[in-house]
Amino acid sequence: MDTVYKRTHMCGELTAKNIGEAVVLNGWIQKRRNLGGLIFCDLRDRTGLVQIVFGEDAPKPLFEAADGLRSEYVVGVKGLVRERESKNAALATGGLEVSVRDMRVYSEAETPPIYVRDDDNADENLRLRYRCLDLRKHKMQRNLRFRHAVAKLTRDYFDAQGFTEIETPMLVKPTPEGARDYLVPSRVNPGLFYALPQSPQLYKQLLMASGADRYVQIVKCFRDEDLRADRQPEFTQVDLEMSFADEDDVIAVQEGYLARVFKELLDVDLKIPFPRYGYREALERFGSDKPDTRFGFELVCASDAAKDCGFRVFSDAVAAGGDVRGINIEGGAARLSRKDVDKLQEDIKAFGAKGLAWMRVGADGTSSSFGKFMNEAEMTRFTELFSGKPGDLILIVAGESGVVFDSLGFLRREIAGRFGLLDDARRELLWVVDFPLLARDAESGRFSAMHHPFTAPNAEDIGLLDTDPGAVRARAYDIVMNGVELGGGSIRIHDRALQMKMFEILGLSREEAESKFGFLLDAFRYGVPPHGGLAYGLDRLVMLLLGAQSIREVMAFPKNQAAVCPVSGAPGEVSREQLAELALTLGK
Ligand code: AMO
Repeated sequence: MDTVYKRTHMCGELTAKNIGEAVVLNGWIQKRRNLGGLIFCDLRDRTGLVQIVFGEDAPKPLFEAADGLRSEYVVGVKGLVRERESKNAALATGGLEVSVRDMRVYSEAETPPIYVRDDDNADENLRLRYRCLDLRKHKMQRNLRFRHAVAKLTRDYFDAQGFTEIETPMLVKPTPEGARDYLVPSRVNPGLFYALPQSPQLYKQLLMASGADRYVQIVKCFRDEDLRADRQPEFTQVDLEMSFADEDDVIAVQEGYLARVFKELLDVDLKIPFPRYGYREALERFGSDKPDTRFGFELVCASDAAKDCGFRVFSDAVAAGGDVRGINIEGGAARLSRKDVDKLQEDIKAFGAKGLAWMRVGADGTSSSFGKFMNEAEMTRFTELFSGKPGDLILIVAGESGVVFDSLGFLRREIAGRFGLLDDARRELLWVVDFPLLARDAESGRFSAMHHPFTAPNAEDIGLLDTDPGAVRARAYDIVMNGVELGGGSIRIHDRALQMKMFEILGLSREEAESKFGFLLDAFRYGVPPHGGLAYGLDRLVMLLLGAQSIREVMAFPKNQAAVCPVSGAPGEVSREQLAELALTLGK
């Protein structure tokens, strides 16, 4: 007897055309119903469900075996496809069933701790713990297949554009790019550590110096950072780099790529080129360098009107070099209660905001949190500035400009979410360009690279590197969809002296620069083409394409919020012997 039935069809792929055919199926029992003389089961595999039937005419042992079937038993069946008497329009195969003649039970199953059903709403921790069961769900299988399709299309597209997929090392030199490194001790070099790569940034630049011309890689990256719905400690990038390219070349290749992904996988026509927003414009209109342009509520600057108004909170903020900005939530006066606004005020404290001023425009006058400090002309000026109409709610934040942008950026999206304005069917892709090259830490006064230290400054601004580094613009670009950063990249520095200067501005001594990045600087000695590139977060791209709420929905075995693998329990302890071999001792 053969151990595994050789299947002829997948469960979800049977159609009316198969009626009358003898078929062999393998799969899991979804559920069983015994109607006395008849036993019905739904058989499931990756492609879907089909009803299988054990009739009274079935041999006794077969009928008994069928009666013993439980959810998640794994079986093979041989039988005949026939038309179903009572059809199930909700199921793709709902017009037919397989009358079973023979069956093998490959394995039995205990009562599963979660239901294998798309509408199962088990707690996420339980889902992640019993991932094998969770992944059996149709929805999750669809997500994995879809991710595979994105990866395949990515390889095909970049191959056709002359890119070569080249693997770069996973054990690299610890040179943090922003987040903390995951470190790996070296046994043969006691006391020394590798890092797992935060991205293949340096290697892909070396590949350009190596003459690879165009490189792409679907690659795991590792960052020890705080987790959120769109962040994981290990995640996948579609990483690429191009020689002899400027911003427009890199961007054009990406627009072609994204247009193809959306067309082939979702049948959505994207309009290219995508709009480009300057960093400053993105902040001033949307309060974010990842603007969500699916809805309005754009920011309005009220600093001018505020600077000598009667409300000290506003005028003081301007006097201290800050901003007063706000948003008009059109029709919001009746939809957001006083309590809602109080709660929003609490929420924006997380961004450093000290308060949230509000103004409700009515048919006969306004009520506001600051009216008693302003005269009528000032109130009219504010109402007009925000184009306030009866029924509108105007929300205003005063303070340091970063705090004001972050708070209003959050409020716009939060309120749009509550009002149902975050329409997943709309895909608003855009570029953010003209980022500052450097960000200055308010406390230490030190500069750090806004993107990374290898990003080239705008040619026109190079003179400012010595006089006003904070004003230098970067040749960097981010691709944003519906308010989520999908990817980012830049044209790189390929001049050794300029790269050294950049390290110096970032506070690295010549020795430090040599010891950390000497291998890149060395490569720059022997001829390197101008180059630039970009990396997408593949998990984020797939999440957005599927309209999923978290990247954990599109990864087979994600970590939980505590960076633990809920299936295996990693990270785990190691033995004394292992530690000794690595010349490591633990603090406790
Ligand atoms: P960057 O750091 O912007 O650029 O990363 C590129 C993209 O990777 C995704 N991403 C993440 N996804 C999930 N979990 C994370 N923890 C995580 N961190 C980043 C985001 C992000 O836009 N070497 C440069 C690229 C370049 O300059 O070419 C880099 O890594 O979608």
